Amino acid sequence: MSVPDPRDDRASLPTAVVVGATGGVGRSVVELLRVTHRIWLVGRRSSAGPNRGRGPRAAQYWSLDFEGDLAELAPPSDLGPVDLLVLAAGKWSSGTIAEGTPKEWADVLAVNVIGQIALTQLLLPHLRRAHGRVIALSSTAVDGSPRGRAAYVASKAALDAFLVGLHEEERRHGIQVTTLHAGRIATPMHREVTDAEATGQKVEAMAPDDLARVIVMLAELPSSVHLSELTLRAASFVEEPPA
Ligand SMILES: NC(=O)c1ccc[n+]([C@@H]2O[C@H](COP(=O)([O-])OP(=O)(O)OC[C@H]3O[C@@H](n4cnc5c(N)ncnc54)[C@H](OP(=O)(O)O)[C@@H]3O)[C@@H](O)[C@H]2O)c1
Repeated sequence: MSVPDPRDDRASLPTAVVVGATGGVGRSVVELLRVTHRIWLVGRRSSAGPNRGRGPRAAQYWSLDFEGDLAELAPPSDLGPVDLLVLAAGKWSSGTIAEGTPKEWADVLAVNVIGQIALTQLLLPHLRRAHGRVIALSSTAVDGSPRGRAAYVASKAALDAFLVGLHEEERRHGIQVTTLHAGRIATPMHREVTDAEATGQKVEAMAPDDLARVIVMLAELPSSVHLSELTLRAASFVEEPPA
């Protein structure tokens, strides 16, 4: 592992790993955290993520495609203790079970479950060293009907079970895990959802920046406080991002 360069002012900052940093939620989280954290962007297009190339506090980039081969997955050699892991990657899927193919199910589970598990497993030694926090995006969809979106709901239910197990097993190592059950958020994914619903009606959605503020607030909770689960729902209409 490389020794931090003392001239690099990121070296003194806590480290945050943000998965899904090119997405609506992830991008907003990075914008808020970049002042206070050294940031690793994780994803298949993370070079397109926010906070790239902005001087000494520019984010670093870990290229990773959850739908690719995860067998050779390894953390960057200069990744030290991880204070915060935000799991905000996700893939939407709609359609009936009769229409869905095994490949479609496999891809959704790869992104929403297996990839996030594999990455978290890999980061456990880094999280343990920092007594870090994991904040993961699940969905209020797990409480509703899976009709027409069974693959997505199944993936989020599986992620929930993983996160509970992670908390129970890793709390003795000082790792805290918070599952965010989010309602609709005005992001590119939400556009896919509303396109699939095709009701033509405007629906309430949270602003991604507001959700990011909650995530940062959770990251700043005192270490003696553990919030295992939080449900957030939209309280007003928000403009969709441009397609
Ligand atoms: N939007 C909502 O209404 C809503 C509601 C409840 C929960 N959530 C959850 O919130 C989280 C963030 O969603 P969002 O709304 O910000 O979605 P989004 O804008 O569609 O962003 C999804 C993110 O996941 C990444 N991703 C997709 N496939 C990937 C792959 N194969 N490998 C690596 N990364 C991949 C995307 O990267 P690319 O840029 O490369 O595509 C992007 O960064 C997700 O877990 C989602 O399920 C969303």
